[in-house]
Amino acid sequence: MDNIPNILVFDSGIGGISVYNEIRQKIPKANYIYIFDNQAFPYGDKSNEFLIERVKAVINKAISTYAVDIVIIACNTASTICLPILRTSFSMPIVGVVPAIKPAIKITKNKCIGLLATKATIQREYIHNLIRDFASGYKIELLGLSELALMAEQKLQGTAVNLDDLTKLMKPWLELAVVPDTIVLGCTHYPFIQPELAKVFPDVTFIDSGYAIAARVDNLLKERNLVNSGAKFQITNNLLCSTQYNEQTQKLIGTLQKFNLINYQLIKI
Ligand code: DGL
Repeated sequence: MDNIPNILVFDSGIGGISVYNEIRQKIPKANYIYIFDNQAFPYGDKSNEFLIERVKAVINKAISTYAVDIVIIACNTASTICLPILRTSFSMPIVGVVPAIKPAIKITKNKCIGLLATKATIQREYIHNLIRDFASGYKIELLGLSELALMAEQKLQGTAVNLDDLTKLMKPWLELAVVPDTIVLGCTHYPFIQPELAKVFPDVTFIDSGYAIAARVDNLLKERNLVNSGAKFQITNNLLCSTQYNEQTQKLIGTLQKFNLINYQLIKI
């Protein structure tokens, strides 16, 4: 009998769906549990101490409730601070998402890269070490914003992104003498508003980490004989969980059914 992995994908909101989509494309034959911590959204404005405790509590609750083979922290804001502690706290493999600065270096032609992320992510030591170690000789423009993750959430709840508002937020980059030719989407929410960002920056290449994470998850599961790729199989019991239920959650549950997340469960932290 084939082993079918149980894959837990976690974010503060809908952002991790951009990662879940990539993983599901690569590994269709798996059970997915998607958990979003909407009670504590947005993570981008929270302290490091709060995030470490919160993410640990959610993962703890999830793995004591469901059988989980691998955890994907599909959130740059959480991954860039919580990964080491999570890996010492839990025994299953934990994969995180960090901004795709290294791949962006291979793409940029004008040697100017923009990192768009939450306020918390651009302040992380992890990011500054990454830039120091891998991007010397490149100009890395950092822009940390609170509003974009919310715009993405609202878009998935049915409210279109206001392009004037978005353009105003991007002003610091639009006024630069050298505008980045490559923009790293350093928050998993941002792929959902990439079409609108591309209207503000028409000649720019956007890059996110979803594809690379999917490849990493696939490799880890293969090492553990948990993936039989090539099999044609449709799992129907994927699960969607949130930490709070309200009107917005209700709208999202409807939208997320499109992504084969049909069953819903509230988890209380
Ligand atoms: N999706 C999250 C990230 O990748 C953060 C959004 C938020 O909660 O601020 O950083």
